[in-house]
Amino acid sequence: MRELLEAKRQKIRDNNKKSEQSQTEKSKLSARQRLTQLFDAGHFMEINALATHQCHDFDMQEKQPAGDGVITGYGYVNGRITYAYAQDFAVIGGSLGRMHANKIVRVMELARKNGAPIVGLNDSGGARIQEGVHSLAGYADIFYANTKASGVIPQITAIMGPCAGGAVYSPALADFVFMTRQNSFMFLTGPEVVKAVTGEDISFDDLGGSVVHGSKSGVAHFVYDSDEDIIDGIRQLLTYLPQNNLEDPPSCESEEPPPEFRNPVPDDPGLPYNMHQLIESIVDSGSFMEVQPEFAANILTGFARFSGFVTGIVANNPSHLAGVLDINSSIKAARFIRFCDAFNIPVVSLIDVPGFLPGSAQEHNGVIRNGAKLLYAYCEATVPKIGVIIRKAYGGAYCVMSSKHVGADMNFAWPGAEIAVMGSDGACNIIFRKEIANSENPEARRKELAAGYREKFANPYVAAGWGYIDEVILPEETRERLCAAIAATLGKRETNPDRKHGNIPL
Ligand code: HXC
Repeated sequence: MRELLEAKRQKIRDNNKKSEQSQTEKSKLSARQRLTQLFDAGHFMEINALATHQCHDFDMQEKQPAGDGVITGYGYVNGRITYAYAQDFAVIGGSLGRMHANKIVRVMELARKNGAPIVGLNDSGGARIQEGVHSLAGYADIFYANTKASGVIPQITAIMGPCAGGAVYSPALADFVFMTRQNSFMFLTGPEVVKAVTGEDISFDDLGGSVVHGSKSGVAHFVYDSDEDIIDGIRQLLTYLPQNNLEDPPSCESEEPPPEFRNPVPDDPGLPYNMHQLIESIVDSGSFMEVQPEFAANILTGFARFSGFVTGIVANNPSHLAGVLDINSSIKAARFIRFCDAFNIPVVSLIDVPGFLPGSAQEHNGVIRNGAKLLYAYCEATVPKIGVIIRKAYGGAYCVMSSKHVGADMNFAWPGAEIAVMGSDGACNIIFRKEIANSENPEARRKELAAGYREKFANPYVAAGWGYIDEVILPEETRERLCAAIAATLGKRETNPDRKHGNIPL
């Protein structure tokens, strides 16, 4: 009896060796190696290692590898229970048949029922062609499990090889997608089909490589050079996340000294600056983990800690498109805020926004519909919401970006903050058009009126006078104020009206 089990285990070990060799040739880790690195040393427990496919078409009974091309299981990551699966490209191309899918669904359901994150490491040729509709059914079962788990447990996927066809939709339904820079690609239809249907000649990378998804499509949240770096990245991301929607994120005191405050904001309000520098000088040292750094860089999103408390940061970035809101930045920030809200992570917004990007390209592609996503996400979020207006908040962007009116709990502004319906020149051209036109020197009169407008409206004190801003603070007081505000709002309990679900403008 023991011998039979030992023989089966030995066969699995032998297959692992073969997978390792084949993956090493492609500068990739094997599924087993990836899981070994993901979990704390010696802490991965495999399940369903002996499951095999039941397909007898195309002589498939001749090759029935134990495990059916995917390793599933659970263990500790950073000392906390995590479930995972890793597809083994060296076994039938990591292709997904009925049993392969059953194993993934089983581990996803275990994760959901037990309230622990699920990590999926994808490396697969897609639906197993020999299994026909059973493969498609398997994918659909996975999508269903993804959707049921959405907002209940964190779902993280990594693309570490091919991810083609319908296989892309499980990662797309997850919360975070990692990609390796060189070895991964994702597309619905590959270059050959694209060529046949549209005549377009395009490479794998140009169609669905990491550069495309990290910077253009917004599908990938993190791009790393190697398998090892991806796994480190996943481990790091998990340190910010609660186990499930009923728990708070893990707070931990930083051992580093607090950052030295360096104000990157230039005196001239027309000059750009890098918002990263401001973030780095107010959060716990080295704690900022940026999400989607290359996509829609006019808004920054990421996790950080303030006095040890995990916080989501949304920040306009004046060094890219002047920090304007547009379609992509609205979608990026909205999804991030909704993740934070689902998982009890307070949102700090650093606001320096000239408004929404004008132009037919934005209007025709639905900046109204897509900008509404960000508005909806802020309004809907019941986690603590704290805003700091750094330099300006104009027009609709003032309303959207964590204003008191969309339910923010604490609102601060720096002394130079300009809050107005629009910039002074534009405003004066509208409300004083006749007066400027009829004056002896229209240009001088325009300047005079603009200066008066700025003095009256473009400051934080009107808003502070009405209580829309809770406190005007000095730049160097920002960290202390934010740490205190986060600590003071962590007990927040607010619920939205009872309903099946809201109808976010998708
Ligand atoms: C069965 C597959 C397979 C698949 C690969 N293999 N993909 N077997 N079903 N989908 C097998 C190969 O036959 C081969 O077996 C081994 O895996 C390695 O594949 P290679 O082609 O030799 O590897 P490589 O040259 O690295 O190319 C990788 C690849 C290519 C680019 C992924 O295999 C490929 O194009 N595969 C098909 C991708 C695809 O179109 N999938 C279906 C998408 S549609 P041997 O025995 O020779 O080693 C889809 C619908 C899902 O997924 C819909 C859900 C809603």
